[in-house]
Amino acid sequence: MQFNKNKTVSIHQWYPFVEGYSKEFIESILNEIEYIPESVLEPFSGSGTTALELQFKNISCISFEVSPFMHLLSSVKLYNNYNVDTFNAFLFNLKDTLANLPRRVSNIRNIEKVPFGRTILKSDSLKKWNFHDESLDGILDVKYAISLVDDIAYRDLFRIALASILLEVSNVFRNGKCLSYKKDWQTRKILNRKDVHNLFLLKVENVIKNDIKLLEDLSHTTRINNYDQLHFGDVRTNILEVEDNSIDLIITSPPYLNSRDYTDIYMLELKVLDLVKNYDELNNLRKNTLRSHVQVKHGELCDLDIPTLQEYFTKISEKKVLLWNNDLLNMIRGYFLDMDHLFKQFKRVMQPEKYIYFNVANSAYFEEEVKVDIIISEIAIRHGFKLVEIRKARNLKSSSQQSEAIKSLRESVIIFKS
Ligand SMILES: C[S@@+](CC[C@H](N)C(=O)[O-])C[C@H]1O[C@@H](n2cnc3c(N)ncnc32)[C@H](O)[C@@H]1O
Repeated sequence: MQFNKNKTVSIHQWYPFVEGYSKEFIESILNEIEYIPESVLEPFSGSGTTALELQFKNISCISFEVSPFMHLLSSVKLYNNYNVDTFNAFLFNLKDTLANLPRRVSNIRNIEKVPFGRTILKSDSLKKWNFHDESLDGILDVKYAISLVDDIAYRDLFRIALASILLEVSNVFRNGKCLSYKKDWQTRKILNRKDVHNLFLLKVENVIKNDIKLLEDLSHTTRINNYDQLHFGDVRTNILEVEDNSIDLIITSPPYLNSRDYTDIYMLELKVLDLVKNYDELNNLRKNTLRSHVQVKHGELCDLDIPTLQEYFTKISEKKVLLWNNDLLNMIRGYFLDMDHLFKQFKRVMQPEKYIYFNVANSAYFEEEVKVDIIISEIAIRHGFKLVEIRKARNLKSSSQQSEAIKSLRESVIIFKS
């Protein structure tokens, strides 16, 4: 199921998204169910795998995404009106601008401003910083060259190409729940402006260019446009706009209950592409994400009356954790309150006798397993769904704090019928 397989697949390969699933996952569902769906819902678009794969198969898909970066990524991949000649003309101009820029512009920062954030660049008060000055100037050059592209669809496409090289030219790497500094970040060769330009152009020429040709060829046979059905914002409120009885399949993978905040791990992309411009915007984005992390205070929440969830709370109350970590407890409560709300809406929008494929993983907190797949099944059944199967996908390693008590955690696909 893992996204890894997508890394060499046309369009999917534009941006590696480890939290995503493979296109084969979508294909296997379509092979398995006994009807051809006409209107699919994907509440958590991420990199857009579901809607893109369905678009290739001429199946309509409504999708939602709250992160401006994932939304941009999904929309660039779903747009299917690219044209090879136009692409090549813009690429020619990009190369020309980048080749002549360092000579023409002595200080790119007079044209493109440094992204917001305390740790972006070296300063006297910092021990670590995200980018070396030369590398950031290379990024700003590319941003400037992209800003001269006078068609928003192509501008966004090039912005995603830039996003895809950001980690490589930075001092950090994605380390599960956070960004960590590379071991040798202070001693390794610093990428200068030209190196950054070249990496960007390599990505555009070696990866994206061929796919544009493929998309142009496919555009003659694709009737469905899932680009127009991708919506930006919090699905918990936006799903209210979906019509009753209009959906005949849901395929999704929500954020897992693993305290991973997508806003944190995609911080460089959000900042460099100017998708968040200050701390207020950042906090606002966090507030609009599913309650699967503790980066915002969720307030005092009530427990859902669901047997396996209650069992979990009873077990940990014996450990007296209630006294010392209310934030985590409220995250767990909030996560299942969000699920309860979503399944109530799923029931409203779904036609009878149709399927949901829901990919989640179990979690562990306070040395007790949170059986997320079972709890979600109990929530769904309460809203009138039939549980078809909890299918194990694989075992995930538990975090180092929990690994003494719990060695592995089940990742599964829960299949429901409405
Ligand atoms: C596990 S990823 C989905 C991956 C996707 N299946 C793929 O293959 O790329 C979950 C996504 O849910 C998004 N998300 C989190 N909270 C959300 C909310 N309240 N509304 C809409 N999307 C949300 C995250 O930004 C993230 O992109």
